Amino acid sequence: MMRYDQLIHEGPRQSSPSLLQLASVSATVFCAVFGIGYTFSGGLVENYATTRPVQTQPAALILPKAVRYAGVSQGPQVESREARTALHAAATGTVNRDSTLQRPKVDPKKTVLIGVAADSGCGKSTFMRRLTGIFGGGKPTPLGGGFGTGGWETNTLVSDKTTVMCLDDYHLNDRAGRKVTGLTALDQRENNFDLMFEQMSSLKRGETIAKPIYNHVNGTLDTPEEIAPASIMIIEGLHPLLDDRVAGLLDFSIYLDISDRVKFAWKIQRDMAERGWALEDIKKDIEKRKPDFDKYVAPQRAKADMVIEVLPSRLAPPKDETAPLEYLRVRLIQKTTTKHFDPVYLIEKGSSVTWKPCGDNLQCEYPGLQLAYYTEEYMGHPAEVLEMDGVIHNLKEGLYVEKFLHNTGAKEFGELTQELLKGQNSPGGDNGTGFMQTLAALKIREIYERATGEKA
Ligand SMILES: *[C@@H]1O[C@H](CO)[C@@H](O)[C@H](O)[C@H]1NC(C)=O
Ligand SMILES: *[C@@H]1O[C@H](CO)[C@@H](O)[C@H](O)[C@H]1NC(C)=O
Repeated sequence: MMRYDQLIHEGPRQSSPSLLQLASVSATVFCAVFGIGYTFSGGLVENYATTRPVQTQPAALILPKAVRYAGVSQGPQVESREARTALHAAATGTVNRDSTLQRPKVDPKKTVLIGVAADSGCGKSTFMRRLTGIFGGGKPTPLGGGFGTGGWETNTLVSDKTTVMCLDDYHLNDRAGRKVTGLTALDQRENNFDLMFEQMSSLKRGETIAKPIYNHVNGTLDTPEEIAPASIMIIEGLHPLLDDRVAGLLDFSIYLDISDRVKFAWKIQRDMAERGWALEDIKKDIEKRKPDFDKYVAPQRAKADMVIEVLPSRLAPPKDETAPLEYLRVRLIQKTTTKHFDPVYLIEKGSSVTWKPCGDNLQCEYPGLQLAYYTEEYMGHPAEVLEMDGVIHNLKEGLYVEKFLHNTGAKEFGELTQELLKGQNSPGGDNGTGFMQTLAALKIREIYERATGEKA
């Protein structure tokens, strides 16, 4: 592993001081003008306002060379060292360490690294809470306690066995720097995949890393934080699968695919109702992000072991194009060829089933629940799909459905329903997103147990 002081002492390479100075000046100006940035968070849009211009250190600014990064997943890149050095030099020269975190040293063979791709901010997602809930060991908390409680602004969440890292921390430039390059954070060239690969490899070998921090509040690259290996390590963000080297380190990967219509509805819910945005602004904001999203984020679906696709309901469809969505249809697309992973199925493996449970013992309130299971060719590989439309209204229904599901990863009958109930009050608690996320979390526990031979 590259030690932090080694990185710092190499010093920034001042290949073009005048350009850097110029960049720094314009960065400050740009930032004062465009003091507000947006990013998706758990399907909702977060608004980050900076109250004054962000201080940009010239050394922190790297102008990506479009030509060299033209393709996806090339080998080590020429300016990697420079990028790394500059990135670290941007910090104050220290590493933040959480001295309260007491975890036994983990055997590198007993760890898994899971990737979660999503168009969202990090650390706040309910999926992560469900996942860490299933592994036990208390609620995930910010590493170091978090900003405001004596800690620092971190994106990393930790619990006894789990560490969740945010890939935004591998942004190459800070927000002001991106104003200069004119590229979005979705762009491959704005992310440091060399460092990501190097550091994830180190963690898998059982080594400690000094991970950079992207501060979402101020849009700055802050003093790095020390991350020690954990039993279950999760990387969440825009591009866990874009770089083949990083993708190759993952034991399992999930892509959260929120369809445009659903994204739109969620954004309206938040930005129109709570912020007074006009419909046109919302449309424009989505359109602005779309080209880079389609180019750099969406293609990762083909590489994911599991895709959770969130669509408008068919059982109870929205009345028009802009109406709020009351119900959802969610598809769990499961690759059939992944090591340590057996897809969840309904009733009979390999069959094709559509099922609307509404037996004698159930209340079948509108719109009810419809499940489906079938095989499909998904982006070039065989997959088994479990689909849920509508809502599960109560515990009885949950248990009834659980009875007909197989390979759920639950350790005993009823566990899936229990976990669903635990998450009932979080967003998506009764809709398909909560259901599929819970299933995904149970499967991850199973993969951990199979891959390491440990009990979780
Ligand atoms: C954001 O930047 C301001 C000004 O440098 C600083 O006072 C504040 O603590 C920063 N906020 C966070 C959350 O880092
Ligand atoms: C379904 O779940 C998501 C979160 O997972 C939540 O944001 C949404 O409001 C819920 N309901 C609908 C109809 O989208």
